[in-house]
Amino acid sequence: MHIHRLEKIWLIIGISMLVIFLAVLGVGTFAMGVAPPGGHHHSIDPETVTEKEPFNNPGLRQIGENEYEAVMLAFAFGYSPEQMEVPVGAKVHFVVTSTDVVHGFAIPGTNVNMMAVPGEVNTISHTFNEPGEYLILCNEYCGAAHEMMMTTIIVR
Ligand code: CUA
Repeated sequence: MHIHRLEKIWLIIGISMLVIFLAVLGVGTFAMGVAPPGGHHHSIDPETVTEKEPFNNPGLRQIGENEYEAVMLAFAFGYSPEQMEVPVGAKVHFVVTSTDVVHGFAIPGTNVNMMAVPGEVNTISHTFNEPGEYLILCNEYCGAAHEMMMTTIIVR
């Protein structure tokens, strides 16, 4: 009788711990979904994203004196546009979504590192003060040719 009661108490403690753990996990996942690292976002329909402004015409747009908006699509396994070129010192605002699965969007050697998510538009800005050829890489595993998924932005 006595042992039975003790087991019951431990069972309740165990279940409570599990509930707390799942709650923390759920809240954590939810928080990450709302604010993915490195960018703000808003929602968009991935089914029709390539038919609507601005993603119907991905590419660079000059929006100021040496300031650009780079509208980009990520897909398995590449990015659109395939290549971009900006002058040294250009401030580039990347506006990125995915047409299929979650991809990465990272430029090694810079602070640019975010996700490209279907149904969401993520943005991040970077000023390219050093000339060179910068790789934009996918750092989220997305399938067989994940390693090959990249594009370049040339700064000169
Ligand atoms: Cu796209 Cu990995």
